[in-house]
Amino acid sequence: MLPTKQQAIDLYKNITTQTDRLNLQMGAEPGISGRHYQAVAFCAQAIASYCPDLDAEKAWILGLLHDYGEFIEKSVPHTFHGTAGYDEMMHLGYDEVARVCLTHSFFDNNFNPQEYAYDSASIIRAGKLISQMTLDDYDYLIQISDLMVARYTITSVEKRLDFVAAKYHLSDEVIKRKKQAALNLKIYFDRKTGKNIYNLTGITSE
Ligand SMILES: [Fe+2]
Repeated sequence: MLPTKQQAIDLYKNITTQTDRLNLQMGAEPGISGRHYQAVAFCAQAIASYCPDLDAEKAWILGLLHDYGEFIEKSVPHTFHGTAGYDEMMHLGYDEVARVCLTHSFFDNNFNPQEYAYDSASIIRAGKLISQMTLDDYDYLIQISDLMVARYTITSVEKRLDFVAAKYHLSDEVIKRKKQAALNLKIYFDRKTGKNIYNLTGITSE
């Protein structure tokens, strides 16, 4: 089940009230999380609108709520936003949102906890849950959309992954593998839309 657009906006307001407060406490710009969610929603909708078999409003809702668990990760020790968001959305009955909360971080299908700056047990649990699922185009759509947003700026997957590599000190080997997986995903949606998805989302210079 999926929340309506209005229900998604209400959920978004609820979590951004909390992320604004937590970001401020952490010395970050308060609105950074909400702007990230909106940018991912924008990319997902823009790409889906060129895919006849995808629903652009559903894509926007999934994008807006994909990081639903962020406020939990930032406020409860030993939590990972992916599994935290999954649990919250399942609790509310929104299983279609729950799955993208869980799947969006694992675009390279890797569940080695050492490659993530998140709670190890949660990464292992995420791997087990995802192994029982068959990923669909909405999972892939939110993965590529999240890969095109560095903080809240829409950019190329290479630049987003350079940002991730610097933030989490990933090795050259790991980042090379992640970039290849991300580019494969971009190529998949370029073919599906018949367009360069960078142009669809306003990245015209790359
Ligand atoms: Fe995200």
